[in-house]
Amino acid sequence: MIRMDGKEVSAYVREQLKNETAEFISQTGVTPGLAVVIVGEDPASQVYVRNKHRACTEVGFYSEVHALPESTTQEELLALIARLNANPAIHGILVQLPLPKHIDENAVILAIDPAKDVDAFHPYNVGRILTGNYDFVPCTPAGVMEILKYYHIEIAGRECVVVGRSNIVGKPQALLLLEKNGTVTVCHSHTRNLAEVTRRADILVVAVGRPHFIGPDMVKEGAVVIDVGINRLPDGKLAGDVDYDAVAPKTYAITPVPGGVGPMTISMLLRNTMSAARTSIRVNKPCLR
Ligand code: GUN
Repeated sequence: MIRMDGKEVSAYVREQLKNETAEFISQTGVTPGLAVVIVGEDPASQVYVRNKHRACTEVGFYSEVHALPESTTQEELLALIARLNANPAIHGILVQLPLPKHIDENAVILAIDPAKDVDAFHPYNVGRILTGNYDFVPCTPAGVMEILKYYHIEIAGRECVVVGRSNIVGKPQALLLLEKNGTVTVCHSHTRNLAEVTRRADILVVAVGRPHFIGPDMVKEGAVVIDVGINRLPDGKLAGDVDYDAVAPKTYAITPVPGGVGPMTISMLLRNTMSAARTSIRVNKPCLR
C-alpha cells in the first residue's frame, strides 16, 4: 500500500514554483501578487489566511491580506474588490469563505474579475472548466489531480467515483477526471446503494465532510482512495471522511488526513496566481463581466 504524502507533493510543487517565479520576475519585471480578503474572526479561516500569506512570501510573490471586521457591509466588501480588480500589482484575489450571513457570497464571487479569480469560483471560470479550456482550477480538486499525477496513477479508462457534489470539490473533481478520460460517477446524499457504487471504483474521491464515512466494506481491493475530508472530532483531533486504518490495507494507494490533500490546496492557489500573472502580461484584456 502506498501512503500518498501531500506534504511531499506540495513541497515538490512549491520548489518548482519558486524557481519559476524567480525566472518570471527576472524576465518580465512583474512580481505575481495575491490579495486575500477575510471578513470576521473565524479562527480556522484566520489560520488558512495566515498560511496563504506565508506561502506566497516563501515562493517570492507579493501578498497582501485585507482583514475586515465582522460588521463590514456587502457594499464595503464589493468596493474593496473593485479596487483590487483595478490594481495592476494584484493578479489574484481570494475572498475567504464562508462569509458572514449578512453578505451574499454569490454577489461577491460575481464581483471578482474572472481573470483574477484564483479560486475559480466565478461562473465564467466554472464554464471554462466544463469545456476543458481553463487557466484556473479550484484548488482542492487541482490538488487531488496533482497527487494522482505525482504517484503515476492512471486515470484513462478507469472507474472513478466521486462522493460529494459540492461546487468547490465534487463537481469540478468529476470534470477533471472526465477530462483525463476516466469513467466518472458522482454520488451524493440521494444515491441508492452507495456502497455498491463505491465498490466499483478504481479511483475513489471522497468529499462529504463526515468523519470515517467510508469503511472497508465500501472499497474495492486494490483501489486508489483520495480523502478530501477534514473533520474536527470532539477530542480535537482531525479525521478524514475515510476510516484510514480500516481501509488502507485494502488499497493500492491512499491519502492520509492530515497530510494528504490538505497541504496541496495552497500550492495550487500559488500555481493559479502564477498563471494569472502570466496571462495578465500576455493579453491586457478588459474585465470579462
Ligand atoms: N474556505 C475553505 N476553503 C476555501 C477555498 O478554497 N477558497 C476560499 N475562498 N475559501 C475557502
